[in-house]
Amino acid sequence: MKIAFASPSLPAAGAVVVFALEGRNFSATGAYLDKLSAGALSRVVATGRFSAKRGEIVELLAPAGIDLSRVLLIGLGKPEALDALGAETLGGNVVARLASSGEEAVTVIVDEVEGVALKPAELAARIAYGALLRSYRFDKYHTKKKPEDKPSLAKLTIGVAQDGAAKKAFQPLEKIAEGVFFTRDLVTEPANIIYPETLAKQAKALEKLGVEVEVLGEAQMRKLCMGALLGVGQGSVRESQLLVMRWNGGKAKDAPVAFIGKGVTFDTGGISIKPAAGMEDMKWDMGGAGTVVGLMKALAGRKAKVNVVGVAGLVENMPSGSAQRPGDVVTSMSGQTIEVLNTDAEGRLVLADALWYTQDRFKPKFMIDLATLTGAIIIALGNEYAGLFSNDDGLVEKLTAAGKATGEQVWRLPLGEAYDKMLESPIADMQNISGDRAAGSITAAQFLQRFVNGVPWAHLDIAAMAWSKKDKPTVPKGGTGYGVRLLDRLVADNYEGK
Ligand code: BES
Ligand code: MN
Ligand code: ZN
Repeated sequence: MKIAFASPSLPAAGAVVVFALEGRNFSATGAYLDKLSAGALSRVVATGRFSAKRGEIVELLAPAGIDLSRVLLIGLGKPEALDALGAETLGGNVVARLASSGEEAVTVIVDEVEGVALKPAELAARIAYGALLRSYRFDKYHTKKKPEDKPSLAKLTIGVAQDGAAKKAFQPLEKIAEGVFFTRDLVTEPANIIYPETLAKQAKALEKLGVEVEVLGEAQMRKLCMGALLGVGQGSVRESQLLVMRWNGGKAKDAPVAFIGKGVTFDTGGISIKPAAGMEDMKWDMGGAGTVVGLMKALAGRKAKVNVVGVAGLVENMPSGSAQRPGDVVTSMSGQTIEVLNTDAEGRLVLADALWYTQDRFKPKFMIDLATLTGAIIIALGNEYAGLFSNDDGLVEKLTAAGKATGEQVWRLPLGEAYDKMLESPIADMQNISGDRAAGSITAAQFLQRFVNGVPWAHLDIAAMAWSKKDKPTVPKGGTGYGVRLLDRLVADNYEGK
């Protein structure tokens, strides 16, 4: 969808959106249109149940006296309570309403409204950002769509007095959205298209933004003794890869921040094979890696003033004659040995080597890993929060604040010695699952902690967040891109120019 900013005048044709305020009236342009239509807007409000709640929309088709195909009233809610996130919801809802309406262009008039704390330019930019995020589609494999089933909306214009300032405020947001879209694309692609080598190849495209991209193959990982990661991939005909991306936007001597993603491009469970029903979902078991790649795109795109390392462990977990067996003992890069009791607890094995490698090579300020790691986190938190585990209270605070600001929320769960003990193995330094099902997400995090070597670290279990079965205001159902906005914000608020 194309987005433009212009001065706040009514378009010659198409649809227009104006604000309605909870418990009050219309914005200035709304009041003007009401007059032009001899009170049609007021009558619509008086007749129905529209109460101008945040993001609520009522639509008038071809109102008499107005030379437009439709007028939409969108509720601002209480003006005092309207923040950046609320503004994004407005934009998202406009797109959701009009995407397949037959309307090709829409103009949103951002009038100044008393009580709204956001500056009009910022309000306008955030509406545009929300609209853009919601406009995402993944259509490439539909070859037979009828024209009437295709989305119509192609252009959104924001009319605002400070259109220059709004455009400027939108620039970095557009770059973040491009990162989010990249993640959504990678997550949505099926596993016959995106596998370790092709995912790494996609990431190579970031080089044109100035990101340094390195890809290690199995021979190199063998030299590094990454027995935990390699064991997971050994049953697949696809070669495992370690993807290493670097964006150097900060001072040369500054230690980088590091993000590490689980990139299991398909998780059958391996020899501990998963049931058939729903197994197709495991194409998005590379969601953590997808987020790290999209985040690098966002940060490089907006030229963030920070040094960043992005690492993704890319493997396919398959059953075959060469697959690892339950009970196998592998040696990780850290030197610690692991008894693989369940080949379906593979994400932690991949991350064990990716985390160790990252701290060993880059000495980062902190490491944050993202992983679709456990089904148990979906049981614990539903689809509202990612599970957060950390050895650093400061990092938790910053992540929690970034979560609130972006709507990509996190909720901390505990770590502790008693949980760690549940990983003791009779034959190796640890086993990859605990003896029973209790605290499954925590024992998984506890396993990861054994490979961070004391570095400040946070683990985000995004198993419930990488994919959505429902539309949200700024996230259409499907691959969500969860984590790109969260971590971009964490970096922007805490690690740039400081
Ligand atoms: N990729 C799965 C976790 C998952 C489940 C992600 C559902 C998204 C949706 C992970 O590799 C896995 O299989 N975990 C097991 C761990 C168990 C064997 C200890 C699980 O959660 O069942
Ligand atoms: Mn698994
Ligand atoms: Zn998995």
